[in-house]
Amino acid sequence: ALERTFSILKPDATERNLTGAINAIIEKAGLRIVAQKRVLITKEQAQRFYAVHKERPFFGELVDFMISAPVVVQVLEGENAIAKYREVMGATDPAKAAAGTIRKEHARSIGENSVHGSDSPDNAKVEIAQFFSENEIVG
Ligand code: CMP
Repeated sequence: ALERTFSILKPDATERNLTGAINAIIEKAGLRIVAQKRVLITKEQAQRFYAVHKERPFFGELVDFMISAPVVVQVLEGENAIAKYREVMGATDPAKAAAGTIRKEHARSIGENSVHGSDSPDNAKVEIAQFFSENEIVG
């Protein structure tokens, strides 16, 4: 089915000027960037976005990292976009990511792993709504 997923190009990617290189991988995989903006997110936004991880030992570090530099938030559209983008990103830990994936090519570590992508249709909806209004998404 035609789906939308939510993507973040994380601070380690913007700091190293890799947003174009990552977008090229996304587009080559057949995903369309139907909304995109570069923003500095607030601590409150980061805490809300990652609320499911709030009991994890790395939560504070994760929030601090996500507000340490600009991010690029995106909506990606395509056939099976949610699963496809997860495949294109590669495993959370870049050491375990397959060749050619964004994380294998660019990520620094499990924390500074360059990209986020929604893990389910329900989460995609919630995450997109946290950063975009419907009129900002142009397919
Ligand atoms: P993401 O897909 O954005 O969702 C949760 C994030 O938590 C994940 O990517 C990682 O960047 C981060 N994360 C997961 N495990 C660890 C860890 N052990 N230490 C630091 N960050 C982590």
